[in-house]
Amino acid sequence: MSEKKVTEGAPLWHGRFQSAPADDLMAYTESLSFDKRLWADDIVGSQAHVTMLIEVGLMSADDGQKVLAALDQVATEFADGSFAYEVSDEDIHTAIERRVTQIAGEPGARIHTGRSRNDQVATAVRLWCKREVALIRTLVIDLVETLEGRAEEADLQDISLPGYTHVQHAQPILLSHHLRAHCWAFLRDASRLAETLNRLNVSPLGAGALAGSSLPLDPSVSAREMGFGSTFANSLDAVSDRDFVAEILFDIALLGVHLSRIGEEWVLWTSAEFGFATLDDAYATGSSMLPQKKNADIAELARGKSGRLIGNLTSVLAMLKGLPLAYNRDLQEDKEPLFDSVDQVRRALIALNGMISTATFRKDKMVEAATSEALVATDLAEWLVMRGMPFREAHAVVGRVVRESLESGSPMAHIVMQHPLLGDEAAELFAPGVALRNRRSPGAAGPEAAQVQRDRLAQEISHAREFHS
Ligand code: ARG
Repeated sequence: MSEKKVTEGAPLWHGRFQSAPADDLMAYTESLSFDKRLWADDIVGSQAHVTMLIEVGLMSADDGQKVLAALDQVATEFADGSFAYEVSDEDIHTAIERRVTQIAGEPGARIHTGRSRNDQVATAVRLWCKREVALIRTLVIDLVETLEGRAEEADLQDISLPGYTHVQHAQPILLSHHLRAHCWAFLRDASRLAETLNRLNVSPLGAGALAGSSLPLDPSVSAREMGFGSTFANSLDAVSDRDFVAEILFDIALLGVHLSRIGEEWVLWTSAEFGFATLDDAYATGSSMLPQKKNADIAELARGKSGRLIGNLTSVLAMLKGLPLAYNRDLQEDKEPLFDSVDQVRRALIALNGMISTATFRKDKMVEAATSEALVATDLAEWLVMRGMPFREAHAVVGRVVRESLESGSPMAHIVMQHPLLGDEAAELFAPGVALRNRRSPGAAGPEAAQVQRDRLAQEISHAREFHS
């Protein structure tokens, strides 16, 4: 390892060091390669900080204007791609401060007054999260609207399909009921993300490295400038809190699990065996070897990528566990999992939305599967219950009908017609759509309850759209 001299290109913290950092150290500890994408948020935070410094009299209006103009120039350089990094730029925060000082000279050197990278990075990450999480939330609600739109279409076409438990035929249900089941899960995701946004809406800027400052800072000024709802109450907590990152990663992991479950269903539904749906060519992929293949890769990746969303949550929780107060460099490890989960789930939401909105439902296949006689067994038992029989007994009576049908090969409807406890009236349950129509308890899978559910869902969707943190 060669010892380098502290020269021009030294890191911002070089003062107490006699020799320059080793290349190996910089290569291992840098975060610029992944925190570059925080540039706009770092600039917003820096502008708010400068405004505060001017307002409390720690920076002259003149110097302040020069620094703000330099920040504007830096923003332009990032936006047009001309920003030039230097090897000494350890992270986006040092890169921007270095450039501002190059542009503005001495006033630029005042920008870090009363500020540490510890409160600076916590601020930039929160600003980034506010924007990105709000976007994901919007995409979640968009997907709910797509599913609801398809549900309404399915009801107009009167599409039913078998409902399953254990992937075995259970009871007939409306397709709309199935699609709306996913809507409710996604609406819970949207509400979870809203709560997370509320909790992260606190500015940590002004906490300094860990203990605040002897300078007359006013954190409420910068918080107001950045649009945060409130300011930190404890400087140690402000710089070491990454609960919001863990929360976002949990929200996304669970959202990812929901996407994965819907993905798995579409893999099944588009298979030759089910044949319940066909994908639009634009949202399906082919095989490099098998010419006939049309694959549901979006659905498979929604399933596959959910693993890494869970992994990202786990990695951040493991990193946080056991960290003493306040800032530790370990916290830098919050960003890659956060960025990855946000990027992945955003793409998943958009792609699945496209896939679902353009697919064709095969009513013929669904209805054919839904008319299997066995799906009426529970309704027969309930028919007996309505006539006073204890359910356990009714269950056994119908169970014997099913067995007899399987053994003799004669249709259940025939056996029911001749059965002393059942007869013609009970056999009417086998007519198409009857069993489904009867399912009218609140929240049930039949058409009457569907209308109620539809109104409730519409209300929840518009309520979800109204949220602004
Ligand atoms: N790149 C660091 C991070 O992402 C910024 C804070 C560094 N602070 C420090 N005292 N070394 O967390």
